[in-house]
Amino acid sequence: MSISGNDIREKYLSFMEKNGHAIVPSSALVPDNDPTTLFTGSGMQPMVPYLMGETHPKGTRIADSQKCFRAEDIDDVGDNRHTTFFEMLGNWSLGDYFKAEQIPWIAKFLFDEVGLSPEKFYITAFIGDESLGIPKDTEAAEIWQAVLAERGVSNGVGEMGSADDGAIRGMKDGERIFYYDAGENWWSRAGKPEKMPVGEIGGGDSEMFYDFGTEHDASYGEHCHPACDCGRFLEIGNSVFMEYLKTENGFEKLPAQNVDFGGGLERIAAAANNDGDVFKIDLLWKVVEQIEELSGKKYEDDLHSFRVVTDHIRGAVFMISDNVLPSNTEQGYFVRRLLRRAVRFADILEIPEGELKNLAKSVIDTYKEHYTNLGDQEQLIIDAIAAEEAQFRITLEKGLKQFNKITLQFHVQTTEVDGKKVIDKTTKPVQKKAISAQNAFELFTTYGFPIELTEEIAEEKGLIVERDGFEELMKEHKEKSRAGAEQKFKGGLADSSDTVVQYHTATHLMLAGLRHFLGDHIHQAGSNITGDRMRFDFTHPEKVDRETLDQIQEFVNSAIKNGGEVSIDMMSKTDAEDDPTVEGSFWDRYPDEVKVYTMKTADGEIVSRELCGGPHVENLADIPGTFKIKKEESSSAGVRRIKAVLLPE
Ligand code: ALA
Repeated sequence: MSISGNDIREKYLSFMEKNGHAIVPSSALVPDNDPTTLFTGSGMQPMVPYLMGETHPKGTRIADSQKCFRAEDIDDVGDNRHTTFFEMLGNWSLGDYFKAEQIPWIAKFLFDEVGLSPEKFYITAFIGDESLGIPKDTEAAEIWQAVLAERGVSNGVGEMGSADDGAIRGMKDGERIFYYDAGENWWSRAGKPEKMPVGEIGGGDSEMFYDFGTEHDASYGEHCHPACDCGRFLEIGNSVFMEYLKTENGFEKLPAQNVDFGGGLERIAAAANNDGDVFKIDLLWKVVEQIEELSGKKYEDDLHSFRVVTDHIRGAVFMISDNVLPSNTEQGYFVRRLLRRAVRFADILEIPEGELKNLAKSVIDTYKEHYTNLGDQEQLIIDAIAAEEAQFRITLEKGLKQFNKITLQFHVQTTEVDGKKVIDKTTKPVQKKAISAQNAFELFTTYGFPIELTEEIAEEKGLIVERDGFEELMKEHKEKSRAGAEQKFKGGLADSSDTVVQYHTATHLMLAGLRHFLGDHIHQAGSNITGDRMRFDFTHPEKVDRETLDQIQEFVNSAIKNGGEVSIDMMSKTDAEDDPTVEGSFWDRYPDEVKVYTMKTADGEIVSRELCGGPHVENLADIPGTFKIKKEESSSAGVRRIKAVLLPE
């Protein structure tokens, strides 16, 4: 095995540090303040404000290895290069250095530190776009020419245009650097210039490719070239020269020229391995080997299933380490999909039940030195994965039986419209079978089958699913549950009598206590309060022992006993969401202007600060009696429930 993935990461960071960069930790997989996406999918996302001109606290040269997740790639996992989770090595010039420094540095890193052969290295640059007033990047091409000349390899420049043009033209002798249009060599979060909304930043880029030397697959076009997708060339790095802002009047230069470099760690490691299969790099291979051992099968026997299980387990581990637990909403749904899909493919490989947690353990061991929160949260991650596997298994068997029952009942004809299979309602049902929307919905609600899972099993059986109808049913379902939740939420309270208000304030104290003793992954997942008791749901994967419950109880009682002010701040929802001291759930249910309740001790120390509609007592001492947790139990997967009362003195 050549250089390890962990070594590449460390070498990169120290190389960039030597060149004056401040090394910053990876941001979380769920972006704090980026409404454009559910997950961090590139290293630059957390840097956007700084690329747009805000001052970065660490200076003008920043580097990191950023955890990334691309949900849209989930269905492509199975080939030799796609993964949902990956690490992106990144460096940024925030109005500091530009092409003349970036290009020689990244070349030096890849050739001298990683050890890639310049002979197998190919480059692309932006051909320019006159209609946008953006010139051809001859500067980048010339700098690359000089770098390559120093390494003694050919450095001819060729003009491709679009990727399709490239397939027609092919590469001529001695050419190593190619100009492509914006379809290939322009980067922004939204893609090509015409796709960018006003206010978005972007720029031409220069991409680096590694040539694995495999034979060209002519189904991808007549000739091979760096931007061809046949698998011979793999993009391993991209220096974006981020210098444009899209405005109402077209593209304008940003106040400063920036560099945004991103290189997939796994892909660089694959190049170092001289094997285009990213699953063969050491970071992933350990999991593959463990699966071989558990299943008694060889990787080569079922590449697809091995890759799905390996990728999905790693993705789930990193997600949970960032406090995204499996659930049916937003980001949590992807974790659920990853794990449920991993269970199915583990079954195909005949891995014994209950082993996903052990695969997770090996992912944690591989990465915890750099991503220390994996080690810190090891138990939480393992328990959450074990719980999701166990919970899914309870319904999986029943669900598959139900699935088979359904498929026997539905007989319809399909026809192709615009290359898509649809149900042909004009012909009498004959042999082709389809899963109706209602059945897919039942598989989801009763058996916990994500729709994609239903579709996958259907496809394996040569069936289709009435997806549009399913989406309709889901919409209705969501509207109903939102209406229900709003009602529950309006109070969450039975009424606003004094005792109910006292209980309500006590729930804030208890949530603060839960977070204090068990960790910041805990958020409110629901509540129901009457004048006699409170019921409170929160995100946590395992039972809370009595000793901890007693500590939490004591935390609440001491706040009540000593008393302290309860104050309200009105603020914009965005400010509140950005403020790390404000705890909150169900943000989408709140208006733009929100109330934040702060509860302090008699000494003025903050006990709890939480987004809420109120009402609350004015002073904690107004809560009479003693707070007692009567019961702690499971509510649903990853959610626990506490029942508690206020006992009279
Ligand atoms: N932001 C650039 C990319 O993701 C570097 O490719």
